[in-house]
Amino acid sequence: MARTRCDRTPAWAQLQAAYAATGQALDVRQAFEADAQRFTRLSQEAPYVFADLSKNRIDASTEALLMDLARQSGLSEHRDAMFAGQKINNTEQREVWHVLLRNPPSAQAEYAGAAPEFIAGEQAKVHATLDAMLAYAEQLRADTAITDVVNIGIGGSDLGPQMAVLALDAFATSGKRLHFVSNVDGHELAAKLPHLKPENTVFLIASKTFTTIETMTNAASAKAWFLEQGGTNIARHFAALTTNVAAANAFGITTTFGFWDWVGGRYSMWSAIGLPIAIAIGAQGFRELLAGAHAMDEHFRTAPLEQNLPVRLGLLDVWYRNFHGFSSRSIAPYHSALRRLPAYLQQLEMESNGKRVDASGEALPFDTCPVLWGEPGTNGQHAYFQMLHQGTEVVPVEFVAVKKARHHLKGHHPMLLANVLAQAQALMQGKDDAGGHKHFTGNRPSTFLLLDDLTPASLGALIAMQEHRVFVSGSLWGINSFDQWGVELGKVLAKDIEPRLHSGDATGLDGSTAGLLARLRS
Ligand code: F6P
Repeated sequence: MARTRCDRTPAWAQLQAAYAATGQALDVRQAFEADAQRFTRLSQEAPYVFADLSKNRIDASTEALLMDLARQSGLSEHRDAMFAGQKINNTEQREVWHVLLRNPPSAQAEYAGAAPEFIAGEQAKVHATLDAMLAYAEQLRADTAITDVVNIGIGGSDLGPQMAVLALDAFATSGKRLHFVSNVDGHELAAKLPHLKPENTVFLIASKTFTTIETMTNAASAKAWFLEQGGTNIARHFAALTTNVAAANAFGITTTFGFWDWVGGRYSMWSAIGLPIAIAIGAQGFRELLAGAHAMDEHFRTAPLEQNLPVRLGLLDVWYRNFHGFSSRSIAPYHSALRRLPAYLQQLEMESNGKRVDASGEALPFDTCPVLWGEPGTNGQHAYFQMLHQGTEVVPVEFVAVKKARHHLKGHHPMLLANVLAQAQALMQGKDDAGGHKHFTGNRPSTFLLLDDLTPASLGALIAMQEHRVFVSGSLWGINSFDQWGVELGKVLAKDIEPRLHSGDATGLDGSTAGLLARLRS
């Protein structure tokens, strides 16, 4: 599979020239005036997601050059290599195969280029585990003695299930209370335990590696609490979701649901890590979530680049980061159930693409991942939107809105939708006030993602779309989006510091750490 880093393609130089000539000065308002078809040209349908890109600082000629960039970089070949189960995670020598988790059994032969026996074998394992996991979810849902389910996990073993359980609250039919404990800060678990009874609680220990210090510490405390409270049946009250079943067994957990090292942590909500989602919305709902994601996978895999939504979004991300120099993107979900979406996307994109070297380890001469941040609308409007409208930096905003409301309160939903439209409009149009305090420069870019309804299927599609757009920018940048070495150093140092908090030994520490250590011990 030939990949060419984006800055080594002819299109890169052409884009630089186009940016200097017209791109930098492009005014979206004038672009709309010049082209009555702009909305049609720069918006599109994808499975479950309608996207309006027309308020962005792009035009047809820039998009065409970006498509050349994608082609010259070997994006399609790289994408096909992912689907075919090649070891594109080169630093860990692993396949990147979360798409297989949502591939229906009937679609086995579709991934051209993959060894059929290997695919069939992996897919059989996927479906056997999925069936077992969903049967367990249904059994638990029917178990009236269980009132509370506590997911203990962090990062990808927390954010995906938590985000999705919240997002799909309208579909929660189990009657169980779902809790998420991630932080090693004991305040989090300690605040939950007094409200739980061992005989009514199931703890799910979610950890791909089953070695993550936060999760192991919380799991040990949960188990100790369970036994202290007179709990006896660990097999009934603890389950593990992990690739490391042996470690879960050694911990004393016998109810386990596995997955495989080709599932990255931040891509794992489709695996056994999704069990809390299945408990909340049921097996059928979970299958719909997978089906929505699969529909987006098929779109990404087969749609022409020009009409391929993850490709268009990923290319826009490159255009903004490397040509306009925009260093962040604000996520504005106008749906309170999507309140953990920004946190989820932070891990997805920043852990994937927050890299300063390419896949061969060579330092990159250009910027990569932007900072992602955000809060649900309309809350953000009364906080940081001031900066988005009138600050010195341009921050592209990604609005997510949902046409249908699933509550019956009068007046709220039109007001919500009016606000999201108004914010996107205000960012673009601006307001002339002779440059004074009430002046809005306008021409501030935004993307508008619209779902008809927030359902398991549409959520699945929305998240898969985000995964693939991250793939696209990472692919063009030439990086390995699927490792995360950047999280390791802090873990190692924390291991070194912890005993020093007990002993006071400051040997070899820098002055600041030594000073803080002494203060914490005084
Ligand atoms: O420290 C980062 C990380 O490895 C993430 O990539 C991962 O999602 C998280 O920790 C949790 O890891 P695990 O599921 O192995 O406990």
